[in-house]
Amino acid sequence: MLSAKSLFQEILDNDESFALFCSIAASGESQGGWENARIAALVPETQRDLAPKITRHGADEDKHGRIFNALLKKRGLEPVPVPPDTDYTMLLERNGIGLAHDKLERDEPLTVQDIVTYLAHSRVTEQRASEQMDLLRKHFADHPDVGRAVKMISNDEDNHLAYCHEELLRLAYAGHGRAIQRTLRECALTEIRVYRDVSLAVMAHMGRILGWPKPKAALLAAGIHAVYLYERLGGWRRTVSLRMPERRNALGGPATPEPEAA
Ligand SMILES: [Fe+2]
Ligand SMILES: [Fe+2]
Repeated sequence: MLSAKSLFQEILDNDESFALFCSIAASGESQGGWENARIAALVPETQRDLAPKITRHGADEDKHGRIFNALLKKRGLEPVPVPPDTDYTMLLERNGIGLAHDKLERDEPLTVQDIVTYLAHSRVTEQRASEQMDLLRKHFADHPDVGRAVKMISNDEDNHLAYCHEELLRLAYAGHGRAIQRTLRECALTEIRVYRDVSLAVMAHMGRILGWPKPKAALLAAGIHAVYLYERLGGWRRTVSLRMPERRNALGGPATPEPEAA
Protein backbone atom coordinates (compact mmCIF):
# COMPACT_ATOMS: atom_id res chain seq x y z
CA MET A 1 0.00 0.00 0.00
CA LEU A 2 1.11 3.55 -0.67
CA SER A 3 1.55 5.46 2.57
CA ALA A 4 3.82 8.19 3.85
CA LYS A 5 5.62 5.54 5.85
CA SER A 6 6.20 3.12 2.96
CA LEU A 7 7.31 5.96 0.69
CA PHE A 8 9.84 7.27 3.14
CA GLN A 9 11.01 3.73 3.90
CA GLU A 10 11.69 3.25 0.21
CA ILE A 11 13.65 6.51 0.00
CA LEU A 12 15.58 5.56 3.12
CA ASP A 13 16.49 2.09 1.82
CA ASN A 14 18.14 3.26 -1.39
CA ASP A 15 21.51 5.04 -1.22
CA GLU A 16 20.86 7.36 -4.13
CA SER A 17 17.41 8.52 -2.99
CA PHE A 18 18.62 8.81 0.61
CA ALA A 19 21.54 10.97 -0.53
CA LEU A 20 19.17 13.22 -2.46
CA PHE A 21 16.75 13.48 0.44
CA CYS A 22 19.48 14.39 2.95
CA SER A 23 21.15 16.81 0.54
CA ILE A 24 17.89 18.68 -0.13
CA ALA A 25 17.13 18.82 3.58
CA ALA A 26 20.66 19.91 4.57
CA SER A 27 20.70 22.68 1.99
CA GLY A 28 17.33 24.09 3.08
CA GLU A 29 18.37 24.01 6.72
CA SER A 30 21.66 25.77 6.17
CA GLN A 31 20.06 28.46 4.00
CA GLY A 32 17.67 29.04 6.90
CA GLY A 33 20.66 29.21 9.24
CA TRP A 34 22.40 31.81 7.11
CA GLU A 35 19.26 33.96 6.79
CA ASN A 36 18.64 33.94 10.52
CA ALA A 37 22.25 34.78 11.36
CA ARG A 38 22.04 37.82 9.05
CA ILE A 39 18.69 38.90 10.47
CA ALA A 40 20.07 38.63 14.01
CA ALA A 41 22.98 40.86 13.00
CA LEU A 42 20.63 43.52 11.55
CA VAL A 43 17.86 43.58 14.18
CA PRO A 44 16.64 47.15 14.77
CA GLU A 45 17.40 48.76 18.11
CA THR A 46 13.74 48.65 19.23
CA GLN A 47 13.64 44.84 18.84
CA ARG A 48 17.05 44.04 20.27
CA ASP A 49 15.65 41.55 22.82
CA LEU A 50 14.83 39.39 19.84
CA ALA A 51 18.42 39.15 18.58
CA PRO A 52 19.58 36.23 20.79
CA LYS A 53 16.45 34.25 19.90
CA ILE A 54 17.00 34.81 16.18
CA THR A 55 20.63 33.75 16.65
CA ARG A 56 19.45 30.61 18.41
CA HIS A 57 16.91 29.98 15.64
CA GLY A 58 19.72 30.20 13.08
CA ALA A 59 22.02 28.00 15.18
CA ASP A 60 19.31 25.32 15.34
CA GLU A 61 18.83 25.36 11.56
CA ASP A 62 22.60 25.15 11.00
CA LYS A 63 22.69 22.22 13.41
CA HIS A 64 19.92 20.50 11.42
CA GLY A 65 21.97 20.97 8.26
CA ARG A 66 24.96 19.32 9.98
CA ILE A 67 22.78 16.46 11.23
CA PHE A 68 21.55 15.64 7.72
CA ASN A 69 25.14 15.73 6.45
CA ALA A 70 26.21 13.48 9.32
CA LEU A 71 23.49 10.98 8.37
CA LEU A 72 24.99 10.84 4.89
CA LYS A 73 28.49 10.40 6.17
CA LYS A 74 27.44 7.65 8.55
CA ARG A 75 26.25 5.71 5.53
CA GLY A 76 29.45 6.45 3.60
CA LEU A 77 27.64 8.78 1.18
CA GLU A 78 28.56 12.21 -0.18
CA PRO A 79 26.11 15.09 -0.52
CA VAL A 80 24.72 15.41 -4.07
CA PRO A 81 23.76 18.62 -5.92
CA VAL A 82 20.29 19.91 -5.07
CA PRO A 83 18.12 20.21 -8.20
CA PRO A 84 16.88 23.84 -8.38
CA ASP A 85 13.24 22.76 -8.70
CA THR A 86 13.48 21.06 -5.27
CA ASP A 87 15.04 24.06 -3.53
CA TYR A 88 12.11 25.16 -1.32
CA THR A 89 13.98 27.93 0.53
CA MET A 90 15.42 29.43 -2.65
CA LEU A 91 12.07 29.26 -4.46
CA LEU A 92 10.27 30.97 -1.59
CA GLU A 93 12.83 33.76 -1.62
CA ARG A 94 12.50 34.07 -5.40
CA ASN A 95 8.74 34.36 -5.00
CA GLY A 96 9.21 37.35 -2.73
CA ILE A 97 8.50 35.53 0.55
CA GLY A 98 10.58 36.45 3.57
CA LEU A 99 13.43 38.93 3.43
CA ALA A 100 15.31 39.17 0.14
CA HIS A 101 18.90 37.99 0.24
CA ASP A 102 20.06 41.34 -1.29
CA LYS A 103 18.65 43.07 1.71
CA LEU A 104 20.28 40.63 4.14
CA GLU A 105 23.64 41.03 2.44
CA ARG A 106 23.61 44.80 3.00
CA ASP A 107 24.73 46.16 6.32
CA GLU A 108 21.71 48.35 6.98
CA PRO A 109 19.57 47.73 10.05
CA LEU A 110 16.17 46.16 9.37
CA THR A 111 12.86 47.84 10.17
CA VAL A 112 10.10 46.56 12.43
CA GLN A 113 8.13 45.70 9.27
CA ASP A 114 11.11 43.57 8.18
CA ILE A 115 10.95 41.76 11.51
CA VAL A 116 7.23 41.17 10.95
CA THR A 117 8.11 39.78 7.51
CA TYR A 118 10.76 37.47 8.99
CA LEU A 119 8.46 36.20 11.74
CA ALA A 120 5.47 35.73 9.42
CA HIS A 121 7.62 33.83 6.93
CA SER A 122 8.93 31.69 9.78
CA ARG A 123 5.42 31.17 11.22
CA VAL A 124 4.30 29.67 7.92
CA THR A 125 7.42 27.65 7.06
CA GLU A 126 7.94 26.37 10.60
CA GLN A 127 4.37 25.05 10.52
CA ARG A 128 5.39 23.04 7.48
CA ALA A 129 8.65 21.90 9.06
CA SER A 130 6.94 20.99 12.30
CA GLU A 131 4.20 18.96 10.54
CA GLN A 132 6.66 17.13 8.32
CA MET A 133 9.00 16.26 11.15
CA ASP A 134 6.04 15.18 13.23
CA LEU A 135 5.07 12.72 10.52
CA LEU A 136 8.62 11.37 10.41
CA ARG A 137 8.73 11.16 14.20
CA LYS A 138 5.46 9.22 14.23
CA HIS A 139 6.83 6.53 11.93
CA PHE A 140 10.60 6.59 12.45
CA ALA A 141 11.28 7.67 16.04
CA ASP A 142 12.67 4.19 16.80
CA HIS A 143 14.57 3.74 13.57
CA PRO A 144 18.17 2.72 14.41
CA ASP A 145 19.84 5.15 11.95
CA VAL A 146 17.59 8.19 11.71
CA GLY A 147 15.45 7.96 14.87
CA ARG A 148 17.56 10.19 17.10
CA ALA A 149 18.01 12.85 14.44
CA VAL A 150 14.31 12.87 13.62
CA LYS A 151 13.30 13.27 17.27
CA MET A 152 15.75 16.07 17.90
CA ILE A 153 14.89 18.05 14.77
CA SER A 154 11.18 17.55 15.33
CA ASN A 155 11.44 18.92 18.86
CA ASP A 156 13.41 21.93 17.61
CA GLU A 157 10.88 22.68 14.86
CA ASP A 158 8.09 22.63 17.46
CA ASN A 159 10.11 25.16 19.46
CA HIS A 160 10.57 27.38 16.41
CA LEU A 161 6.85 27.34 15.75
CA ALA A 162 6.03 28.18 19.38
CA TYR A 163 8.52 31.06 19.28
CA CYS A 164 6.94 32.50 16.11
CA HIS A 165 3.47 32.43 17.69
CA GLU A 166 4.69 34.13 20.84
CA GLU A 167 6.71 36.86 19.13
CA LEU A 168 4.05 37.63 16.52
CA LEU A 169 1.45 37.95 19.26
CA ARG A 170 3.75 40.31 21.12
CA LEU A 171 4.08 42.48 18.01
CA ALA A 172 0.32 42.27 17.40
CA TYR A 173 -0.31 43.63 20.91
CA ALA A 174 2.19 46.38 20.14
CA GLY A 175 -0.02 47.55 17.27
CA HIS A 176 1.29 45.62 14.25
CA GLY A 177 -1.73 43.31 13.97
CA ARG A 178 -2.84 44.38 10.51
CA ALA A 179 0.59 44.19 8.97
CA ILE A 180 1.02 40.76 10.55
CA GLN A 181 -2.26 39.42 9.18
CA ARG A 182 -1.55 40.76 5.71
CA THR A 183 1.99 39.40 5.63
CA LEU A 184 0.94 36.01 6.99
CA ARG A 185 -1.76 35.63 4.36
CA GLU A 186 0.58 36.55 1.50
CA CYS A 187 3.20 34.13 2.79
CA ALA A 188 0.77 31.28 3.27
CA LEU A 189 -0.81 31.52 -0.16
CA THR A 190 2.58 31.58 -1.87
CA GLU A 191 4.03 28.88 0.36
CA ILE A 192 1.32 26.33 -0.42
CA ARG A 193 2.00 26.79 -4.15
CA VAL A 194 5.77 26.54 -3.77
CA TYR A 195 5.35 23.51 -1.51
CA ARG A 196 3.16 21.80 -4.13
CA ASP A 197 5.68 22.48 -6.91
CA VAL A 198 8.63 21.35 -4.80
CA SER A 199 6.76 18.19 -3.71
CA LEU A 200 6.02 17.34 -7.35
CA ALA A 201 9.67 17.93 -8.26
CA VAL A 202 11.03 15.86 -5.37
CA MET A 203 8.67 13.00 -6.19
CA ALA A 204 9.65 13.15 -9.88
CA HIS A 205 13.35 12.90 -8.97
CA MET A 206 12.70 10.10 -6.47
CA GLY A 207 10.51 8.27 -8.98
CA ARG A 208 13.33 8.27 -11.53
CA ILE A 209 15.87 7.02 -9.01
CA LEU A 210 13.60 4.32 -7.60
CA GLY A 211 12.09 3.34 -10.95
CA TRP A 212 8.48 3.93 -9.96
CA PRO A 213 5.96 2.70 -12.50
CA LYS A 214 3.83 5.38 -14.16
CA PRO A 215 0.62 4.64 -12.23
CA LYS A 216 2.43 4.97 -8.91
CA ALA A 217 3.98 8.29 -9.95
CA ALA A 218 0.60 9.51 -11.20
CA LEU A 219 -1.11 8.54 -7.95
CA LEU A 220 1.49 10.42 -5.93
CA ALA A 221 1.18 13.51 -8.10
CA ALA A 222 -2.61 13.36 -7.73
CA GLY A 223 -2.16 13.17 -3.96
CA ILE A 224 0.06 16.28 -4.00
CA HIS A 225 -2.51 18.17 -6.08
CA ALA A 226 -5.25 17.08 -3.67
CA VAL A 227 -3.27 18.43 -0.71
CA TYR A 228 -2.83 21.72 -2.55
CA LEU A 229 -6.56 21.91 -3.26
CA TYR A 230 -7.36 21.30 0.41
CA GLU A 231 -4.87 23.97 1.45
CA ARG A 232 -6.06 26.47 -1.17
CA LEU A 233 -9.69 25.99 -0.11
CA GLY A 234 -8.98 26.89 3.50
CA GLY A 235 -6.32 24.56 4.89
CA TRP A 236 -3.86 27.46 4.57
CA ARG A 237 -5.59 29.19 7.44
CA ARG A 238 -4.03 26.77 9.92
CA THR A 239 -0.66 28.27 9.02
CA VAL A 240 -1.63 31.86 9.84
CA SER A 241 -3.56 31.58 13.11
CA LEU A 242 -1.84 32.88 16.25
CA ARG A 243 -2.21 31.29 19.64
CA MET A 244 -0.10 31.74 22.77
CA PRO A 245 1.97 28.53 22.90
CA GLU A 246 2.27 26.27 25.92
CA ARG A 247 6.05 26.40 25.55
CA ARG A 248 6.96 30.00 26.32
CA ASN A 249 10.30 31.51 25.49
CA ALA A 250 11.12 28.35 23.55
CA LEU A 251 14.31 29.85 22.09
CA GLY A 252 15.44 31.61 25.23
CA GLY A 253 18.69 29.72 25.74
CA PRO A 254 21.63 28.32 23.83
CA ALA A 255 21.09 25.64 21.17
CA THR A 256 21.32 22.05 22.39
CA PRO A 257 24.32 20.46 20.68
CA GLU A 258 23.71 17.65 18.20
CA PRO A 259 24.45 14.10 19.30
CA GLU A 260 27.98 13.08 18.18
CA ALA A 261 27.07 11.01 15.15
CA ALA A 262 23.54 12.32 14.58
FE1 LIG B 1 15.17 23.07 10.75
FE1 LIG C 1 12.92 25.51 12.01
